[in-house]
Amino acid sequence: MKAKITATGAYLPEKILTNFDLEKMVDTSDEWIRQRTGIELRHIAENQPTSELAANAAEDILANSSISASDIDLLLVATVTPDQPLPATAIFVQEEIGAYNAFTFDVNAACSGFMYALSIANAYIVSGMVKNAMVIGAETMSKIIDWSDRSTCVIFGDGAAGVLLEPTEEDEGVLSVVLHSDGRYSDLMRVPAPGSRIPCSKKVIDDRDIYVKMKGNETFKLALRNIVSVSKEALDLAKMDFSDVNWMVSHQANRRIIDGVAKRVNLGEGKAIVTIDRHGNTAAASIPLALDWAVKTGKIKKGDIVLLNSFGASLTWSAAVVRW
Ligand code: UT7
Repeated sequence: MKAKITATGAYLPEKILTNFDLEKMVDTSDEWIRQRTGIELRHIAENQPTSELAANAAEDILANSSISASDIDLLLVATVTPDQPLPATAIFVQEEIGAYNAFTFDVNAACSGFMYALSIANAYIVSGMVKNAMVIGAETMSKIIDWSDRSTCVIFGDGAAGVLLEPTEEDEGVLSVVLHSDGRYSDLMRVPAPGSRIPCSKKVIDDRDIYVKMKGNETFKLALRNIVSVSKEALDLAKMDFSDVNWMVSHQANRRIIDGVAKRVNLGEGKAIVTIDRHGNTAAASIPLALDWAVKTGKIKKGDIVLLNSFGASLTWSAAVVRW
């Protein structure tokens, strides 16, 4: 038994923030942002919680599938921007779409969250515990960004997307998944407060500790090395190598990371899916957003080998090989 991706779906909030808009907010330039990150614009959720974005993506997945909300067995939401600490954002999504026969929970593995959730859903399906699983990555990064910090505010965006997984007895679907994490790097990217370590207070707000802090350059170097090695691990498990890959769908953190990985592994021209130019870094939503775009534009076709890989705080990294 394997788990096959039978539908994808996505949702992006309406408001668009361009690099030129950011030029008016912080000391930056369109040229710097394009050259260093590949980003041109990002979508921003103004008055919408993460669950609303996720529910809209879920409706799109359902519209592209042959099942209805009441058929969903397992509903996972990967996010680092939950609606609130309690309950899980997935609970609100369940209510919004009426998936009352599902059990639901959130997964937090930062920008690798979608991949971690995919691996959980895969394991439930392969074990026979569920007959299908919806996996959504959804973020409103704009709510945890310090809009006065040019080193982070130009990078992130909001959005949601996901997939439906169903069982198959064919040699297709998820062929391998590899996950890694390393807590020794926990200070590379974090939102220090509020939490049980530093509870909410006026001081944490005044100190701007409620926003994302990132050591971008150190993260960049680790990302390149680890994405290459974990991708090789996943391909080895699937008894393949980089020459078998039709499409690489990476976490969209930085265009230079995606190009760097593609170059190091001799992926071949045009095989890396790139959506960072118009989405920015949407953390757990970025891989399913890129995947959905590649499917809907007809790039990814039945039988294609798709390599998914991710890198996130602090530190998580992963890869999966999927036969479409
Ligand atoms: O999503 C998962 C985890 N995150 C990542 O994977 C992020 C990985 N890191 C990156 O994508 C890149 O490191 C960044 C895009 C964040 C930064 O690019 P960089 O090439 O590593 O730049 P840097 O941090 O080394 O900064 C270079 C210069 C600095 O100025 P000086 O010290 O050389 O004078 C920065 O102050 O660029 C300056 N800078 C900016 N300039 C204009 C930093 N941010 C900006 C900005 N506009 N927005």
